[in-house]
Amino acid sequence: MTDDLFADEPPQPREEVLCRGAVVLRHFALEQEAELLEAIAEVTASAPFRQMQTPGGYIMSVAMSCCGQWGWVTDRSGYRYQSTDPETGQPWPTMPDIFRKLARDAAETAGFRGFEPDACLINRYEPGAKMGLHQDKDEDDFTRPIVSVSLGVPATFQFGGSRRSDRPLNVMLASGDVVVWGAEARRFYHGVLRLKQARHGLTGELRYNLTFRRAR
Ligand code: SIN
Ligand code: FE2
Repeated sequence: MTDDLFADEPPQPREEVLCRGAVVLRHFALEQEAELLEAIAEVTASAPFRQMQTPGGYIMSVAMSCCGQWGWVTDRSGYRYQSTDPETGQPWPTMPDIFRKLARDAAETAGFRGFEPDACLINRYEPGAKMGLHQDKDEDDFTRPIVSVSLGVPATFQFGGSRRSDRPLNVMLASGDVVVWGAEARRFYHGVLRLKQARHGLTGELRYNLTFRRAR
């Protein structure tokens, strides 16, 4: 079989297991790239990107926004979910249907049926932005997975284990790739290395990431 035969076909989805409970769904969201970016623009027109402060007083290099019933926020008093945007005092924008459906379908493909996210964090990385190794542990129910969608410039995602000292795998994530982790991997440490300077046709120098959670 020659490559030419399929030259006009988009890359086909493919699954790469990272460990028990964690999988990369390559190209899973690629067809919806443009629509997802439009939806991000709409959400962030009413809940603008902002760089939040950690409890320790650092300003995060990643700019964030949220949509859905709950939004994740951080400031000097700690990390938490809240139903309103602290910048505007308004409820977070409704989660777009295209987000909800993508999260549900990706979770199901990874073996987690019936995932209904009530929170979506939207991360925006400029060149040089990074996210240190951390656990997603502010949610009530760890039987629900995390679904993470990459858009724009590629980044190196690190996926470790249950201890901060566990050596992480380095995984290149390109636009349209989706990572799902749950079950025994639900509280595993993960992060993103400093974003390198690069260009993407739809996002310029930026990378966006959507993470879907069931917060409550
Ligand atoms: C996160 O862990 O919240 C972000 C992951 C990513 O940007 O890929
Ligand atoms: Fe995370």
